[in-house]
Amino acid sequence: MCSGGARLTLNGPVSYRPVRHSVARREPGGKPIEPRIMPCMRGSMLSWAGLRDLRGARYRQSKTYVRFVSWRPVMWNPETYLRFADDRGRPFHDLVARVAADRPRQVVDLGCGPGNLTATLTTRWPDAQVSGIDSSPEMIEKALADQGGPGPVAYRVGDVRDYLPGAEVDVIVTNAVLQWVPGQEELVGRWARALRPGGWLALQVPGNHDSAAHQALRGLCASSRWSALLGEIAEQPRSAPGPQEYAALLRAAGCAADTWETTYVHQLPVTGGPHPVLIWLTGTALRPVRAALAGEPGAWERYCAELEPILAAAHPADGGVVDFPFRRVFAVGHRVS
Ligand SMILES: C[S@@+](CC[C@H](N)C(=O)[O-])C[C@H]1O[C@@H](n2cnc3c(N)ncnc32)[C@H](O)[C@@H]1O
Repeated sequence: MCSGGARLTLNGPVSYRPVRHSVARREPGGKPIEPRIMPCMRGSMLSWAGLRDLRGARYRQSKTYVRFVSWRPVMWNPETYLRFADDRGRPFHDLVARVAADRPRQVVDLGCGPGNLTATLTTRWPDAQVSGIDSSPEMIEKALADQGGPGPVAYRVGDVRDYLPGAEVDVIVTNAVLQWVPGQEELVGRWARALRPGGWLALQVPGNHDSAAHQALRGLCASSRWSALLGEIAEQPRSAPGPQEYAALLRAAGCAADTWETTYVHQLPVTGGPHPVLIWLTGTALRPVRAALAGEPGAWERYCAELEPILAAAHPADGGVVDFPFRRVFAVGHRVS
């Protein structure tokens, strides 16, 4: 099912963007010390192993440092991500419905992705200045293109880890982002503490780390066939805090907390192409796998060919759809005074 050529419509070809450069310290007279995640990859899950294999990688060595000028595969593909826009969007609307801000001055969407959901914030709060920040240039390009250039939402490329709300920010939304950010608890606490009186922080993260699909994905990465290329991805901790942990974090920051979890059962249509859960995962959880395999011809297709039957067994078709249960965790903090 997941073969090469035109049939493989999971993400289109991997394209590349220049990475400025990064530096790895070198032991005197020895091998370079290999960092797990290169500094230039902040915000992505691409490891040194993935970087080393990238097409077009060049590096220069000096006595103490190894400098890399390389290319990174595009990590997010807005078109693939938007294939299930309705299903992916529903938690955002459920989240924002719990934010009772009346007339916020500024609203920010951290990790705004392709902007389709950010744009709805301008309808919800027409008087607010709405901005969207995302570390993916591809996502910001898509958001700006759909908006027709500078418009009601101010989009910019940026890393949410560098974000601190200014004095006029009354609502912070971050939907399906923090699972990609190691140390998110510290960030959530920092943002919650920085809220002005009356301010809101609303977040949603997938809580499906233990789902059949994710176990299959990790299990394959850890298998003897794939661990040399994908072992680090198998080890990535992606589990997020649960509703109680978020409630404790928000209360510790002086906010009132409203937290909950929901398991959506997405009904993904069977199209005759790749299994729908494989298509879904290609837009999100499989991106680091694809990036790490980019330098090995045919490897991505072989990996998919192994994963797909496992997904199909866990999610059989029924009446033209497959049920795809997806647990999500929500947290809304409100600084009352
Ligand atoms: C699953 S998408 C969610 C997009 C959007 N919030 C939505 O709900 O559709 C995750 C987004 O988080 C962004 N992201 C991940 N880590 C980030 C970081 N450290 N800083 C900014 N954006 C980040 C990705 O580029 C991607 O667009």
